[in-house]
Amino acid sequence: PNGLLSDRLGRPLRDLRISVTDRCNFRCSYCMPKEVFDKDYHFLPHSSLLSFEELTRVTRLFVAHGVRKIRLTGGEPLLRKNVERLIEMLAPLRTPDGEPLDLTLTTNGSLLERKAQALKDAGLRRVTVSLDAMDDAIFRRMNDVDFPVADVLRGIEQAARVGLGPIKVNMVVKRGTNDHEILPMARHFRGTPVVLRFIEYMDVGASNGWRMDEVLPSAAVIERIHAEMPLAPLDASQPGETAERWRYLDGTGEIGVISSVTQAFCHDCNRARLSTEGKLFLCLFASRGHDLRALLRGSYSDEQIAGAIGLIWQGRDDRYSELRGAMQPDASEGQRRVEMHYIGG
Ligand code: GTP
Ligand code: 5AD
Ligand code: SF4
Ligand code: SF4
Repeated sequence: PNGLLSDRLGRPLRDLRISVTDRCNFRCSYCMPKEVFDKDYHFLPHSSLLSFEELTRVTRLFVAHGVRKIRLTGGEPLLRKNVERLIEMLAPLRTPDGEPLDLTLTTNGSLLERKAQALKDAGLRRVTVSLDAMDDAIFRRMNDVDFPVADVLRGIEQAARVGLGPIKVNMVVKRGTNDHEILPMARHFRGTPVVLRFIEYMDVGASNGWRMDEVLPSAAVIERIHAEMPLAPLDASQPGETAERWRYLDGTGEIGVISSVTQAFCHDCNRARLSTEGKLFLCLFASRGHDLRALLRGSYSDEQIAGAIGLIWQGRDDRYSELRGAMQPDASEGQRRVEMHYIGG
């Protein structure tokens, strides 16, 4: 591999998102609604998960193919036992030019206050925290396990203190549920180094009962904030970025909007996803993945597995969000889409 891999639409492979557990201690209705993910739900047994050795090996092969950013996701990645150990194993990996990786993690923040220092010591570079409201009652309702917002805010502060920055905060906006929290969230993080990003509620998975009328377009988010705290657009910091960046005109910081529904960003999507049990997905909305675990557990050499990954990426033509608008409402019904907690956002 020489890092020049590109898919059928000319997109390079730069970003690997690894789901390290399909479990989560929250039950956000847009991701793991309680009615589906109840006590009878069968999460994956430990033997199905890729081991840390397997994850490190496969990550090394992806890095040789040009991956520069590794993001651990879940479920809730901090629930994976000894995840610090995995970070320690991934941190020494280098790109073909000898650069360290952008090694990061997306967490719900519930265990962050306790774990931030250990994560930093293990070699994690930064974190992104999901947080959907400042208001305690709304936050508790959205996580649906009555988890208090103050604990997450302390987690964010602790992550900043130990140097896990620049920290990003992700807010999924659902019209009628938390859209009145947009301004309180913006006010709270303005003037801090935290970059707050507003995410359009997406039709991922098959359990969340997604409806278009619950999506608040990013343009409306920007309009509401701009009316009180004037904004100006910023250039992208990297090709293929999910977020469109904006800055406060008075220099008090930066925000972002992630508009997968109203402004698809598939044209330069450079992200691959590895599910908890080692399936490689080429799109967040794919209905099937490629079984890398079978290769990792078979008697294949690194070269053979790297070759397989290369061929899979070269065959990629996924661009679901761009096609969504053109599709019949239930065109993808027959093929049940994979769930977000399993594929890792
Ligand atoms: P940064 O490197 O910090 O910019 O992170 P990121 O935006 O790549 O990842 P993050 O985990 O913070 O994801 C932010 C939101 O964008 C989440 O809602 C993800 O589900 C969504 N997202 C990330 N990648 C993709 C993608 O390729 N397609 C779509 N449709 N959504 C994505
Ligand atoms: N739409 C948009 N974002 C979502 N996330 C989870 N489910 C959805 C959805 N249906 C977000 C989480 C986390 C990120 C990885 O994905 O809040 O910040
Ligand atoms: Fe858990 Fe994140 Fe899904 Fe909420 S969005 S249920 S915190 S994985
Ligand atoms: Fe990439 Fe698929 Fe998201 Fe488009 S919808 S940006 S192809 S993951």
